[in-house]
Amino acid sequence: MSDPTAAADATAFHRLPSPAADVLERLYAEDARQRAAGLPPDQRTRNVDPNTGRFLGTIARSIGARAIVEIGSSNAVSTIWLALAARDSGGSVVGTELLPERAAEANANLAAAGLAEVARVVPGDARATLSTLSGPLDLVFLDAEKDDYIGHFEAALPLLRHGGLVLADNVVSHDLSAYQAMLHARDDVETITLPIDRGIEYTLKLAPYYAPTTERTAQP
Ligand SMILES: C[S@@+](CC[C@H](N)C(=O)[O-])C[C@H]1O[C@@H](n2cnc3c(N)ncnc32)[C@H](O)[C@@H]1O
Repeated sequence: MSDPTAAADATAFHRLPSPAADVLERLYAEDARQRAAGLPPDQRTRNVDPNTGRFLGTIARSIGARAIVEIGSSNAVSTIWLALAARDSGGSVVGTELLPERAAEANANLAAAGLAEVARVVPGDARATLSTLSGPLDLVFLDAEKDDYIGHFEAALPLLRHGGLVLADNVVSHDLSAYQAMLHARDDVETITLPIDRGIEYTLKLAPYYAPTTERTAQP
């Protein structure tokens, strides 16, 4: 049976404008070289797969996201996908990256992609950067170290508007059961695991719950 995702992979870039398409093509080639060389994870850029990037941009466009934060930007591959959507919505992206040299590389790549006006990657710990933001945010993308997902989620959720989304990568490729169990135990979010590439946890921040009253109960 043919792989149903192969056709989507082949067209992942076909709607991307220049020069972002050229920059992504170069960065994906670098990522592939690093993987083929068997470099350890801390020496790789560990970029999202093309379909995950396309999914991030599609969801951001669907909700008209204008205020986007990314936790773990590396050299800005996922930032570019999000920034293209933010530019169309008149919004912006704040990326975060622990390693200063990688953050500098990310900002150079954003500039090369023509997106410096729309997105910037702030060097340092994401939690420090989050503490400087006031929100409300429309979309948060989680892609830093997996052991930190719960802490990053808890730091980001108060900034997220009701109806906003937290998307977290690698929930199928890695054991993120503690993160998922934490989400399932909360009554202020709805969450579902999407089997796209390495697995994306799609979490919606719910509006405050209003208990039904007799006046508001529908009558037959
Ligand atoms: C999987 S990579 C991100 C890939 C990126 N989203 C992309 O698709 O291009 C994870 C990155 O998170 C960064 N990171 C780890 N802990 C962090 C933290 N506490 N705050 C900000 N960045 C962090 C790492 O240095 C690494 O570059």
